[in-house]
Amino acid sequence: MEMAIDLVLLGPPGAGKGTQAELLSDWLDIPAVSTGDLFRKAMAESTELGVQAKGYIERGDLVPDEVTVGMVRERLTNSDCDEGVILDGFPRTVPQADALEALLVDMGRRLDAALYIEVSRDELLRRLGERWTCRECGEVYHEIYDPPEQEGVCDKCGGELYQRSDDTPEAQEQRVKVYLEQTAPLYDYYAEDGLLIEIDGEQEIDAVQQEIREAISRLKGD
Ligand code: AP5
Ligand code: ZN
Repeated sequence: MEMAIDLVLLGPPGAGKGTQAELLSDWLDIPAVSTGDLFRKAMAESTELGVQAKGYIERGDLVPDEVTVGMVRERLTNSDCDEGVILDGFPRTVPQADALEALLVDMGRRLDAALYIEVSRDELLRRLGERWTCRECGEVYHEIYDPPEQEGVCDKCGGELYQRSDDTPEAQEQRVKVYLEQTAPLYDYYAEDGLLIEIDGEQEIDAVQQEIREAISRLKGD
């Protein structure tokens, strides 16, 4: 059996982490786990977790670390993560990164790489403003860059497309601010461990994916 491969996707809101995580998941055949998607699912189902998270998310703030770490711990112990996992949107703070390290150690694993997807601020706002998300499966589209075949309908599952409640201009602004204050320090955190790989996120979706796959192939020594 091959060793598990554990990856983190880092980058500002709208950089394309979710888009790239899905493509990478197909290629590596390991799950992509998005904390944002897990929270949105909980919100749609109005579970206790969803009710707890809602206010933070709609303001563009982070959900408290204890809540987030607990949710990730539960998800990672699922057997579908035995061969590895692609984490999208987690960790987002230094305490979360420390917690992830401890979780992986408990599983006899360690992080293989943190892929940092770099995109300029102007491009981020263009991407977020015209994003459409599937209510059923979470697939993301972009009005211009990555439109669905039929307007308002998910290509993958036929679900209805909607605009996220945290994609308002105010919440977007706050998400970028929170990112700079709380998440950007993870760049140095992973650079110091030698785990950071920079990816040029300002290319077309397929070109970004290609760059990521090449980096992972080098990592695996293929
Ligand atoms: P989350 O869902 O993680 O939101 P985010 O980090 O703001 O990231 P996004 O989903 O907005 O962007 P993305 O980088 O995935 O880009 P996407 O692929 O969609 O988190 C939401 C909230 O949940 C947080 O604000 C927080 O409240 C809470 N939360 C989540 N995790 C947490 C944690 N760990 N701790 C605490 N709280 C947490 O792409 C964006 C758009 O661009 C799409 O329309 C896409 O089609 C398009 N696009 C993508 N790539 C390209 C490209 N190369 N060229 C052109 N268009 C592209
Ligand atoms: Zn769908």
